[in-house]
Amino acid sequence: MRATSFAVLSAAALVSAVPCTPPTATVVVETAHGGAFNDRTNKTIAVPIGHVYVNEDALAAVSTLYLLGPNAAICTPYQAKNGTGSGGLPFYAGHPSLLSTNSVVVGSIVCATTN
Ligand SMILES: *[C@@H]1O[C@H](CO)[C@@H](O)[C@H](O)[C@H]1NC(C)=O
Ligand SMILES: *[C@@H]1O[C@H](CO)[C@@H](O)[C@H](O)[C@H]1NC(C)=O
Repeated sequence: MRATSFAVLSAAALVSAVPCTPPTATVVVETAHGGAFNDRTNKTIAVPIGHVYVNEDALAAVSTLYLLGPNAAICTPYQAKNGTGSGGLPFYAGHPSLLSTNSVVVGSIVCATTN
């Protein structure tokens, strides 16, 4: 009986977890592929707020980081994957962070809410 009620409880927890997923920040990673100014591509990623976010793929070549939202969030790029080592200026909605006119590796991003 214990096992059954546990299973029912976890199913309920799973269902209710959907609307309660942690808030994420929508970040655009712009990559410059060489010298030409127009040789750039964008990749949009969802960064959980309040965690050290690592994404070796998306952050392997970063020129500029944009925060599309939410407005009450600020994100900081770091060199190391554990959220240490300054990787650039913090960025927030309307204030992108230019890391390099070429592209650099970003180890991690940490986003926080500002209110
Ligand atoms: C990438 O997205 C940002 C923010 O939306 C925009 O300002 C920029 O022009 C875009 N770059 C490319 C290459 O699409
Ligand atoms: C974070 O990672 C860097 C590079 O790997 C390392 O030098 C540093 O000691 C680490 N810091 C912590 C707090 O783990």
